[in-house]
Amino acid sequence: MSRVSVIGLGYVGLPVAALLAAAGHRVLGCDINPAVVEAVQAGRSHFQEPDLEMLLQAAVGSGRLTAALTPQPADYHLLCVPTPITADHRPDLSHLAAATRALAPVLTPGCCVILESTCPVGATERLAAELAALRPDLRLPVLGREEPVDVHIAHCPERVLPGRTVQELIGNERVIGGMTAACARLADQLYASFATGARHLTDCRTAEFVKLAENAFRDVNIAFANELSLLAERLGLDVWRAIALANRHPRVAILRPGAGVGGHCIAVDPWFLADAAPDAAPLIRTARAVNDAKPRRVAAQLSALAAAAPDRPIALLGLTYKPDVDDLRESPALLIAELLAAEGRELLIAEPHLPQLPPALRHCRHLPAEAALQAAGTVGVLVAHSAFRSLPRSAFAGRGVVDAAGLLAA
Ligand SMILES: NC(=O)c1ccc[n+]([C@@H]2O[C@H](COP(=O)([O-])OP(=O)(O)OC[C@H]3O[C@@H](n4cnc5c(N)ncnc54)[C@H](O)[C@@H]3O)[C@@H](O)[C@H]2O)c1
Repeated sequence: MSRVSVIGLGYVGLPVAALLAAAGHRVLGCDINPAVVEAVQAGRSHFQEPDLEMLLQAAVGSGRLTAALTPQPADYHLLCVPTPITADHRPDLSHLAAATRALAPVLTPGCCVILESTCPVGATERLAAELAALRPDLRLPVLGREEPVDVHIAHCPERVLPGRTVQELIGNERVIGGMTAACARLADQLYASFATGARHLTDCRTAEFVKLAENAFRDVNIAFANELSLLAERLGLDVWRAIALANRHPRVAILRPGAGVGGHCIAVDPWFLADAAPDAAPLIRTARAVNDAKPRRVAAQLSALAAAAPDRPIALLGLTYKPDVDDLRESPALLIAELLAAEGRELLIAEPHLPQLPPALRHCRHLPAEAALQAAGTVGVLVAHSAFRSLPRSAFAGRGVVDAAGLLAA
């Protein structure tokens, strides 16, 4: 069993740390946020994720998972810090740079650094170069140069789906890209200790590209579904019925349209590809534009309907970026609510996954869906949470409804 440090204890790092501890490793979770460290030390998760709380309590209770604010020497160091984009859609690798600076002093000969964060192509090589500059006493790998090193470096992107993270960390297939083949093999040994899905060894640039291609694929396909929803609206057609019928074709599988695209991955990662070579990525950039435009269209539809019932509030069902999570990052539903609130609309918001509304919407009422529907003249279904599925159709009757999430689609 190995000593493993997991740097960044968020949606990815915390489940990874808990699973590694369950597999018998001695794990030090490391995060710059003292509240996160404190919660983990107490065996509590700071976000909702099925099975995580149970796993965490067992890991902390067994003494195999501890948490701290700074890294310590270990056999494996997993970097799971955020990699967002800037306001002008460029990769923001500042968290990774800070984590690299904190990690460098504790590197010891024989250890392996694994970058799990989603990164632009070339980021793993830059990580190796930065560590080499910070630790001239250690031999760091150079891409493709198969020679002895003191510190191995690999990129193993996470492909988990929030809401199924624990199960997917174990079962998903993995792409493990090394700076060298030896780096990939050493990283692979760690995943072999807890992951049951097939593991595919390659170089780090390919692994970076694969992860970005996966999320750009999803984004482009969702953009197609969203574009169909705009066309159907213009032509007076039911997009959900039309897609259901089109998908009866043996070689057609159109995705579901929605209020937009949110979350920390699909709305962000395609920009890493577009930024690398803008002129070579017109489709990816257009898909981003189509998906980014959708929340404004839904807000405009709701505004237009609300004009017909000006004395009654608008009920919004769902605020998170997708069903059955408590995650608001890049949420199109949140943007729609903010746009309507900025117009001065009275909003009743049903969001069963949040204990309270986010600060920008605190002046709105946070109600159970039934109560919100009863009082509203207009309804926006923004997220198809499971909890909304049992609402009777009659609760929507007589109201202007924009069903952006397809909750009411047969
Ligand atoms: N959330 C997902 O479902 C998902 C899925 C696949 C890949 N990813 C990728 O995984 C990476 C992490 O995403 P996440 O969703 O877990 O992010 P997150 O924001 O939930 O968590 C990141 C954590 O890192 C901590 N942190 C920031 N800088 C740090 C530093 N210098 N040292 C130590 N800790 C630091 C933060 O305090 C935070 O707790 C990103 O690159 C993301 O794109 C996420």
